[in-house]
Formats: sequence, structure tokens, C-alpha cells
Amino acid sequence: MPSKSNHEGRAIVRICESVSASCLGPLLVAVLSGSAAAACASRGETDVEPSLEAGRELLGGATTVFDVSGEAFSFPARNLTTELSNSFSLGNHFFRRNWVSAPASIAGNDGLGPTFNATSCDACHFKDGRGAPPTAPGERFVGLLVRLSVPGEDPHGGPLGEPNYGGQFNQNAILGVKAEGNVAVTYEEIAGSYADGEAYSLRRPSYAFSDLAFGPLASNVMTSPRVAQAIIGLGLLAAIPEETLRALSDEDDRNGDGISGRMNFVWNQREGRRTVGRFGWKANQPTVEQQVAGAFLGDIGITSALNPAENCPAAQAECASARSGGETGAPELSEQKLVAVTRYNTTLAVPSRRDWNRADVRRGEQLFGEAGCAACHLPKVETGELAGFPALSNQLIRPYTDLLLHDMGPDLADGRPDFLATGTEWRTAPLWGIGLQKVVNRHEFLLHDGRARGLAEAILWHGGEATLSRDAFRAMGNVDRAAVLAFLKDL
Ligand code: HEC
Ligand code: HEC
Repeated sequence: MPSKSNHEGRAIVRICESVSASCLGPLLVAVLSGSAAAACASRGETDVEPSLEAGRELLGGATTVFDVSGEAFSFPARNLTTELSNSFSLGNHFFRRNWVSAPASIAGNDGLGPTFNATSCDACHFKDGRGAPPTAPGERFVGLLVRLSVPGEDPHGGPLGEPNYGGQFNQNAILGVKAEGNVAVTYEEIAGSYADGEAYSLRRPSYAFSDLAFGPLASNVMTSPRVAQAIIGLGLLAAIPEETLRALSDEDDRNGDGISGRMNFVWNQREGRRTVGRFGWKANQPTVEQQVAGAFLGDIGITSALNPAENCPAAQAECASARSGGETGAPELSEQKLVAVTRYNTTLAVPSRRDWNRADVRRGEQLFGEAGCAACHLPKVETGELAGFPALSNQLIRPYTDLLLHDMGPDLADGRPDFLATGTEWRTAPLWGIGLQKVVNRHEFLLHDGRARGLAEAILWHGGEATLSRDAFRAMGNVDRAAVLAFLKDL
């Protein structure tokens, strides 16, 4: 595990990995020698080749489940208590249900809108997995939404919403209320080739807004298209101690490896102060609860105790006067429902690896370390205590993320800051479960806006701090590249 107190934590992790990967044969379980080994041992590092470590298939520790079907992302952590299992079932129900506009015939079902992106959580996080960008011209956006802001900060240091459209573009509205407009994406193909001459093509998205109901967007508007993320293992990520993240971060790149992860600090509505961000593509949400309440309001138009006011910018008069759902004067989502959905999102399990002992997969795991991928996609970390969730506490997990922000270069930049995250920074995406995305979601689109059409394209888009790592992948021959992809598909 990374050291708690200094900036060498990341360097040590890397030394341990590269020593074991480059000096030891793939079939050899051996004890490391020399100073790096001493450093590893003194920090409790493993002395076993990472691609041979026992238990490495259990990505979520004891919470790991073993389903590999299209439902693989929809199971509760294997070791949950009965009470939490019951909350899981209830939360699951509200996650999948379609919300309707007020008044509904059944009390407690309404509150949709006035404006919204989708009528259920599941519409975007289909089977608790990942959303997709539109696949045909003119197709409406569902699993992809666009965040909006103008330069400046809100009173809490967060993005300042576009004056007439707010912080998120809502293409839908309930009857009698104007939707904000439409957005479409088109792609430009960019040709490239690997070092061995094999050709590839990447598609660069561009977005066009139309039918804008409240006038043109501000001339200085900043937009950030983001797809819905898979929501497995979130409680485990919440349980990683803040001091571990601090030890991993290396803001000024003091160890000189070209990689300078840093924490985002974002407004925590419950605590009334800024705390470390963990969720969202820019680590822009501090807790699962706040992310869930934010989704209810921003994506579906449902108010809660955490977000009691509807999302109606001043220019949107019909929005402001539309009828609310729920009981008069109370938020549309009861506290009990918010708790259930939060628990559900906290306890969705990560599936096990499948082919971790296959030779090409092991080779890919080694190459992943050698190419420096593991410097950001941290293979292994321990959770601390997560209050109320003993099942998730003190687990050895393999999320393949450090939850830190990294500059990924101009090609991936959205140019839209989000608290401390700049327009070029993104949170290292967790890679657990990524190999089952195709089975669960029936598509292979990756990256924050779904531009990558598969794992190789996702890697090829890496830039900024990940440039060397990407170039190492580009320089590999096709057998090694296939091994890296085989490893990722096994996660
Ligand atoms: C319109 C599509 C859409 C809908 C509907 C939607 N989400 Fe999301 N969800 C997203 C996007 C996009 C993100 C990434 C947000 C960001 O980066 O700011 C996200 C992120 C999340 C995350 C954080 C995942 C992570 O790995 O950090 C959680 C949890 C979540 N959503 C829960 C919900 C819940 C609960 C609902 C229903 C109340 C919901 N979402 C409805 C699109 C959607
Ligand atoms: C400097 C840190 C860093 C390094 C090094 C790095 N990555 Fe990433 N990776 C990221 C970040 C940040 C994202 C999210 C970028 C985005 O969505 O725009 C990401 C996204 C990905 C994704 C897509 C995940 C998703 O959910 O869409 C894959 C696959 C991936 N990386 C694999 C790799 C591999 C393989 C390597 C080594 C060749 C590597 N990465 C090196 C930071 C890094």
C-alpha cells in the first residue's frame, strides 16, 4: 500500500511493479531482491509478481460477485447484512422506476421535471452500467448529457451555471413547459498508426445546439459532454481513506515521473464545507448520497431534502410555475427513498475476473505495469472504515483508479473547470468491470464522452500526463497490444 506520509508512495508502487514485471519471468513466483525490494517489503508491498498474486481476481475483495451475465453489475455486495440487502432491493426499485409528472394517481410516484434528461436512473445507467452516445445521426441523447457553465465560480467554488440554461442542458420537459432545446454530435475521423505500421482511426466529437428555447447560449459558455458511468463498487471507493489519496497525490510531480495526480475538493452540502471529491468524471461529487440527490434533481427533476428547489433558471417562467409532485411543501423524494437509492448505489458489487490465469492475460497485466498505466490506474488499495457499511470496510480492492485528477492533454479536454479540476483534468477512470461492459450494455464506447469505440481507442486518446504510457502502448507489437487488451477485458 502507498506510504501515508510522503510523496514517494506512487514511485514505490511503480518501482515494485516494474521490478517484479521486468526481472521475473511470468511463471516465477519469487522474492524481490535489492533496494526496491526492501522498500516494497518495508511498506508492506507484495513480494509476488502482480500477475500471479493470490486473490487478484477478487476485484472488490470479499464483496466480489461471480456473475458474468448481462446482469453482472446488478448484484449486491456478497457479504451484506440483511438490513442493507433490504434497502438494496427498495433502492433498486426506485432506481428502475419511471417517474411521472404531477399529479400521479399513485402518491409518491410523481415529480418528474419540469425539465429533465430522462425519466429513470436506469434509462442512462442501463443495468447499472454505462450510457452510450447516440449511434445514428439525429438520435436523441439519453446516456450522454451536457454540463454547461460560464467563467467564474458559484458561491461554493463550483461551476457557474449558464444564465438561461443552468448547469445542465435538459432536452425534455413535462407538458406545458418548454424543453431547453436539442443537441447533436458529429464525428471527424482522424487517422493514425501504431509503431509497427498498423493503421487505426479515432473519432473526434463536436456538438451543435439547436432549437434553443431561451435564446442563444452565452457567448462564453463552456460545455462538458459526459456519459453515465457504471455504478459498481462505489461504496468501496467511498471507503478509501482520504489520507491514502493524499499519499498518492503528487501535485507538483516531486518524484519527476511526469505524473502529478491531485485531489479535487468540492462542496459537500451535508457538511457545509469542501471535502475530497470522488465521484463523477472529474471527481466533482464528494459522496454517493450527494451524487444521487444531484442526479434526481439534475437528470430527472426530482427535488429532495438535499436539493429542495426545482432547477428553473430565471428565464424559464413556465418551469418555475409548474406543479410540483409529492406532498405539498415537502420535497418530491422522501428521505426514505433517498436513503434507499443511496444505499443501493453504495452497495452494488464488482464482478470477479474470469481468465486471470490465462497466459496472454498475465502478460497483458505485466505490460500494463511496464507501460506506466498502473501509476494512475492503481491496481490495489485498502479501504478504511465506511460508517454504516461494515461489509465494505477494510477490504483489499483492485479498482484500477487512484481517484485523482490528471491532466490528460488538449485532445480530451472539455475546457470546463469543475471545482479544482481544470479544463484538461479528469479523474482516473476505474477499470474494474470494464471487460463486462459489452455483455451488460451491449456497446463498447468508452471515455467521458463515449468517443472511444473500444479499449484500444480509449488508450490512444490518452495524452498529457499519460503521453509516455500511451506511446508505450503504440510502440508495442500486435501480440503485446492484444495482451494488454486481453488483460483489460478480463477486468
Ligand atoms: C441523463 C442520464 C442520467 C440519468 C437519468 C442519471 N444519471 Fe447518473 N450519471 C450520469 C452522468 C453523465 C454521470 C457522470 C456525471 C459527471 O461526471 O458529472 C453520472 C454519474 C452517476 C454516479 C457517479 C458514478 C461514479 O462512478 O462516479 C452515480 C452514483 C449516479 N450517476 C447515480 C444516478 C442515480 C441514482 C440516478 C437516478 C436518480 C441517475 N444517476 C440518473 C447520467 C445520468
Ligand atoms: C496519467 C494517468 C493515466 C495513465 C498513465 C493512464 N491512464 Fe487510462 N485513464 C486516465 C484517465 C484520467 C481516464 C479518463 C479519461 C477520460 O474519460 O477522458 C482514463 C481512461 C482510461 C480508459 C477508459 C475507461 C473508461 O471508463 O472509459 C482505459 C481503458 C484506460 N484508461 C486504460 C489505460 C491503459 C491501458 C493505460 C496504459 C497504457 C492507461 N490507461 C494509462 C488516466 C491515466
